[in-house]
Amino acid sequence: MAQPDIIVTAPLPPFLYDPLKADFHCHDYQMAGDKPGLLAAEGQGIRGLVQGGGTVTPTTLLDALPKLEIISVFGVGYDGVPVDYCRSRGIKVTNTPDVLTEDVADVALALIMMTGRGFVRLNRFVHTGEWEKRGPELTTKLAGKRVGILGLGRIGKAIAERVSALGMHISYTGRKPQDVSYRFVPDLVTLAAESDFLVVACPGGAATKNVVNAGVLAALGKKGTIVNIARGSIIDEPALVDALRTGTIKGAGLDVFADEPHIPAPLLAMDNVVLLPHVGSATHETRKAMGDLCKANLDAWFAGKPVLTLIPELA
Ligand code: 8YV
Repeated sequence: MAQPDIIVTAPLPPFLYDPLKADFHCHDYQMAGDKPGLLAAEGQGIRGLVQGGGTVTPTTLLDALPKLEIISVFGVGYDGVPVDYCRSRGIKVTNTPDVLTEDVADVALALIMMTGRGFVRLNRFVHTGEWEKRGPELTTKLAGKRVGILGLGRIGKAIAERVSALGMHISYTGRKPQDVSYRFVPDLVTLAAESDFLVVACPGGAATKNVVNAGVLAALGKKGTIVNIARGSIIDEPALVDALRTGTIKGAGLDVFADEPHIPAPLLAMDNVVLLPHVGSATHETRKAMGDLCKANLDAWFAGKPVLTLIPELA
């Protein structure tokens, strides 16, 4: 039987791309020098699309793929997929939930510890020989402090479990209260005002764009640190830079940014900011599991079986 044609729009690791190439006729859009030429020549026959969590897929690209049946996202986030458009064309969209939850939550915990306890500054202090000259700074006790979580989904809950183990107190906000022991706060400004660490763990996309704005940061205040492991789009980045520069908030721990891999220059120079290069899911084990799930969704679909992890909006 002929292998289904699929188009790949993001860089993929070999442990995903090689098995895809074995079972599908892959067209590498991301590497193609002549993208319109590729679409003109192959677009009519393409039945599947593979993209990354952060990849933005414009409807104009999908318009050039009239036979497209499925988008398999290599990532849990699908804020770059035009879901309403896909629904209207009957295109299935799958992602890779669950397999990355623990790793992403670990990064949130690490950012709380690195910002609160000053571990990045203190590491530098030792490496640069400063300890020979003077004693280290004192930092912030974490036990007893308040963590506010924006978005208590799978990852938010895994973060809550971790910070509970540190003896921190947890509140959260989201669309609705859940059947959990953590305190629900209906609005984000109040949550920020009542938190020492505000952790962003909700999906990206139009509904959450810039919801962490200047007002939320002002409410978080001088005692407060913002942590983001979700999407850069959720925080108004210029407002964040301003809040850090003016001392409106205490610090930030960021794994995601509005325009990756570009980081606002002022952040790079700040000592109260810990910056990571979007590594929430970046372990060998988890990326392999994500790759397996990403391919398993395509395999299932093209074998005429139900996909494994259809996004909830299309279920
Ligand atoms: C990955 C992510 O960096 O899962 C997501 O939504 O943002 C990350 O796990 C990305 O998806 C890899 O393509």
